[in-house]
Amino acid sequence: MIKYFLAEDTIDSKDIDRLIAWLKGAPRLTKGEVTLEFEARWSGWVGKRYSVFNNSGSSANLLMYAALDLSGRLKNKKVIVPSVGWVTSVAPAMQFGFQPIMCEADPDTFGLDLDHLESLLKKHRPGSVLLVQVLGVPHKMARIMALKKKYGFILMEDACAAIGASWRGKKAGGFGDLSSFSFYFGHQMSTIEGGMVSTDDPRFRDLLLMLRSHGWGKDLEPAARQKLVRKYKIDDFHSPFVFYIPGFNLRSTDLNAFIGLGQLDKLDWIISRRQENHLRFKERLDGKLYVQKPDPGSVICSIHFGALARDGAQRRRIVKALVDNGIETRIFSAGNLGLHPFWTDRYKRASFPMADRIHHTGFFLPNNPSLKPEDVDFIADVVEKAL
Ligand SMILES: Cc1ncc(COP(=O)(O)O)c(C=O)c1O
Repeated sequence: MIKYFLAEDTIDSKDIDRLIAWLKGAPRLTKGEVTLEFEARWSGWVGKRYSVFNNSGSSANLLMYAALDLSGRLKNKKVIVPSVGWVTSVAPAMQFGFQPIMCEADPDTFGLDLDHLESLLKKHRPGSVLLVQVLGVPHKMARIMALKKKYGFILMEDACAAIGASWRGKKAGGFGDLSSFSFYFGHQMSTIEGGMVSTDDPRFRDLLLMLRSHGWGKDLEPAARQKLVRKYKIDDFHSPFVFYIPGFNLRSTDLNAFIGLGQLDKLDWIISRRQENHLRFKERLDGKLYVQKPDPGSVICSIHFGALARDGAQRRRIVKALVDNGIETRIFSAGNLGLHPFWTDRYKRASFPMADRIHHTGFFLPNNPSLKPEDVDFIADVVEKAL
């Protein structure tokens, strides 16, 4: 029987009570005013001008790639993607006809390996780079931003599993030209399912708004919509149902946005709890296992504590001990994405020393706000004994 789950819901009974009280007022449930409020509060919280709420972190990534593709801003469709991240950090590149080039993982943060990234930038001069902020440990952003300036690429920042992490006072997701977030169950905060894309650029914002809803202009600000109406000489009767770009329906609802607002109210508490647990795990296990090393000035906000065993045999022993003691575990994110069939069926196997090590020896331990110091110690004891 599992006693310690990898993920616990951050939507608690108080949140459910608030939701029920709100629902009893018979509010509009589809996307509307509450979504706009959630987007505005999210933008303020993360430090971006605009945000577009949608139905998952994966949809947020899809929207980033699609907006970039349609923006006319790309110098080419080469994109550097991480070997350690999530399948939907990379899949949209394949779906939208980009040429993805896979990058090794950094030995400290497990984000993009900076030397490999620079060699790929020199060789391929890609139009864009997708950076994953791995598991709430922010990457070395000084060098990433210097490389961005030097090589002139557009940065997509996947902060889906890094909400609340920050680097020298700036939030994860605050660095990208386009940034994505996930509010899936078990992530730093939850809207059941949900995602957000944030940007400072009004062109990207308008594309995201149209892409999210069928390609129509109804969600645009009045001036932006009027510009299109004039450009295409649309009459008032047709105007709401004119489709300007080939879009999707990736909307969420006001119900999910209402939950999101409640989660934002307690996000600072969630961050401090997750950071405390993470640092306690790190104190107990660093040196005995290989763990992520944050850059100075980082605030960590992890959803699981990730660690690497010495080898596959040691990982098997640790996993068995965890399972025997009712502690849920799994592989480290997706390991190396370059070893998965979705990639190897289409491209050459992308094998790199660090990413492969994460693939073959990595595992997760639970971290969530309800975990107490004594729980962390119990889990760390079980791991230590298995070493
Ligand atoms: C780095 C990263 N990107 C994207 C996603 C996808 O988010 P979602 O599950 O909301 O689709 C995840 C999910 O864990 C993730 O870890």
